[in-house]
Amino acid sequence: MSAHDKKFFDTFMLVIGAMIFITVLLFFLARYMSDETQEKWQKEDPLVRSVIDERLKPVGRVAKTGDTANEAAVAAAVEAAPAARSGEEVFNQACSVCHVAGVAGAPKFGDAAAWGPRITKGMETLVQHATLGFQGTSGYMPPKGGRMDMSDAEIADAVAYIVDHSQ
Ligand code: HEC
Repeated sequence: MSAHDKKFFDTFMLVIGAMIFITVLLFFLARYMSDETQEKWQKEDPLVRSVIDERLKPVGRVAKTGDTANEAAVAAAVEAAPAARSGEEVFNQACSVCHVAGVAGAPKFGDAAAWGPRITKGMETLVQHATLGFQGTSGYMPPKGGRMDMSDAEIADAVAYIVDHSQ
């Protein structure tokens, strides 16, 4: 290698080395700057925070009695749930089909003679038969009158409504 070539090579390597050094320096400088500015602002931005909180919030929550933190949420959920139907409403929606006209051996609503012997069985039995279904001597009473979407309490209220008006 001639002296001239060697000089060129040395200078060339020096320039390349300097450029690599500057590149690395710029890279870390940029990272440091974004850490101190962009990222910091983003993490502190209430809008960004609320979006993250929304994304991370649990799907459901278990509310224990005395757990005051959840009380408001529980109250809101109870408020939003549809109010239970009254005994009369349940009767009109689910029981009247059979019990008004006396279809298929169903004791008629308001018929004291038909209900008298049944009432003597006691409310508990009547509610149980209305909820779980009952095969008697005059016909078949389907569970909840076929309205499985109704709660046990609603069915019990309907039985009470029938009994109150059939004696
Ligand atoms: C598909 C017709 C039908 C529907 C709907 C129906 N019932 Fe009945 N139910 C009957 C029949 C039939 C009997 C009589 C069964 C027997 O004693 O042979 C009966 C009997 C009863 C009895 C008396 C049970 C006993 O132990 O004597 C009650 C209480 C009663 N139904 C409540 C209800 C209520 C409450 C609803 C509405 C949620 C309802 N039924 C809807 C057909 C029906």
